[in-house]
Amino acid sequence: MKISRKILKFTEPLTYRRGWRRAQRSLFRVPLAPMLAHIDRERAREIQQRYMNSTAGYAKYANIEPWLQLNRERVQDLNLHRSSPKRVLDLGCGGGFFLFILKNLGHSVLGLDVERVPLFGELLELFEVPRLVYRINAFEPLPDLGEKLDWITAFSVNFNLYHPSKERWGTAEWDFLLHDLQARLAPGGKIFFGLNPLYNGGYHTPEIRDLFLSRGADVERERIFFENGVRL
Ligand SMILES: C[S@@+](CC[C@H](N)C(=O)[O-])C[C@H]1O[C@@H](n2cnc3c(N)ncnc32)[C@H](O)[C@@H]1O
Repeated sequence: MKISRKILKFTEPLTYRRGWRRAQRSLFRVPLAPMLAHIDRERAREIQQRYMNSTAGYAKYANIEPWLQLNRERVQDLNLHRSSPKRVLDLGCGGGFFLFILKNLGHSVLGLDVERVPLFGELLELFEVPRLVYRINAFEPLPDLGEKLDWITAFSVNFNLYHPSKERWGTAEWDFLLHDLQARLAPGGKIFFGLNPLYNGGYHTPEIRDLFLSRGADVERERIFFENGVRL
């Protein structure tokens, strides 16, 4: 088989999945305007202007509309815009864009993050999204969250980095977290991670990919989805 055909064959399922998601998004739309009507637009403008000339990496989040659009896609791709109300915990929730949309769709939401970036605190306040201030550390269980959850999500994950070395978690750290998260899920609960790229452009080492697969995840590049929870 020619190399070009081999590559085509390899990429087909991915292309197909992406195309399917795009089509679904345009079929079942989620208008943002009614959601934005609930926030203090004056305050949003003030935040945006204050960070406009900031060189801080996170200042980009002050311009909220593109981030809401990106997070709308995340919501749509997980089909949470067409679901009955769920209890959702978002790890490393940042400014709370994803949870703001979910809250407006009737879900019950909680973010978890460190309190390092003042802008994130301001956005969470603007969006009226609750956040539990907590640092996820390797081999440490999350605090008591009270109720069981239907969904646990994490996008652009970077809690899996050691500081200051920036070394990434290995399989043992991930497996500990997976066990801990599974214990927080209600029956039928789901977990989704959107991973950040590694320095070499991939998203996970082969060992971590194998761990995710062995624990029941669907792995599509950066998208790690435990639709039926974690297989223990
Ligand atoms: C790249 S940002 C992504 C934010 C958000 N999930 C999004 O996609 O817009 C990563 C987030 O993870 C948080 N984070 C990093 N390390 C963490 C840790 N150890 N525990 C909890 N949150 C952490 C950061 O504070 C930041 O909000």
